[in-house]
Amino acid sequence: MEEKIICVTGASSGIGSEICVELAKNGSNVVIGLARRVDKINELNERLPEELKGKIIGRKCDVENEEEINNAFVFIKNEYGKLDIFVNNAGILMTDFVTEEETKNIRKLFDINVIGSCICLKEAINLMKETSGKGHVIVMNSILGHRIPDMPPNLKPPFGLYPSSKHALTALCQTLRQEMSFLKLPIRITSISPGMVDSDLLSGFNQQLVSMLPKLKVEDIAEAVKYVLNTPERVRVDDIIINPMF
Ligand SMILES: NC(=O)c1ccc[n+]([C@@H]2O[C@H](COP(=O)([O-])OP(=O)(O)OC[C@H]3O[C@@H](n4cnc5c(N)ncnc54)[C@H](OP(=O)(O)O)[C@@H]3O)[C@@H](O)[C@H]2O)c1
Repeated sequence: MEEKIICVTGASSGIGSEICVELAKNGSNVVIGLARRVDKINELNERLPEELKGKIIGRKCDVENEEEINNAFVFIKNEYGKLDIFVNNAGILMTDFVTEEETKNIRKLFDINVIGSCICLKEAINLMKETSGKGHVIVMNSILGHRIPDMPPNLKPPFGLYPSSKHALTALCQTLRQEMSFLKLPIRITSISPGMVDSDLLSGFNQQLVSMLPKLKVEDIAEAVKYVLNTPERVRVDDIIINPMF
């Protein structure tokens, strides 16, 4: 089977870690995981069968730092000569009232969730374009990137700035699809939008609300990624919305 070179951001925990492990289980894949906590990424190899250990390669990349992003993609080009699949997954949550949020936090959220995503996607797509000329990009969006549920007026709205950053990703995916189509580049862009997933991210949410609501498992999201990647090249899966059952 052809060796696939895969890069996943936000690989050190939650959804990103699970995606790395699941994709590395296919022995012909090499998975480069990016995040700030590199040790956590390299430790994921322990979850692989003996003969596949080492298939997950951790590399430090803070998506707030453009130089680190650029260096990560130069590393991939120099070491592997191509990039087949890019999973843009790094993200943070910020749920305080917009009217009460400090400007430095507003900038941080958009730097990581939006600007960091734009730079990573630009670098990933340009690397695909320069090398094999094709590829698949998956963007970890959110149900909150499509709609914000109505709240009864006596309940404190729990979402803050986060949905604005994810709505930006919805728009970004669609404009990127248009660019790929205009440039005749066979690079597919899939947005995956989960509802609540049991991960470290939820520590930033109202814990009473978190305990009351049904949650997906990180495995459910990794399954969706595998489904999308297994579709034939003629198929373009644009959007997947996944909600937990009650
Ligand atoms: N959990 C949910 O309910 C849910 C629902 C819908 C969508 N999502 C989305 O799914 C994605 C993954 O979230 P998760 O639930 O798996 O959360 P998580 O466990 O908190 O993982 C977040 C990942 O993002 C990375 N990250 C954060 N800041 C970073 C930075 N400055 N530079 C590089 N990496 C950074 C973290 O790595 P380091 O800290 O090591 O850098 C970590 O690997 C996010 O985009 C999130 O918005 C989550």
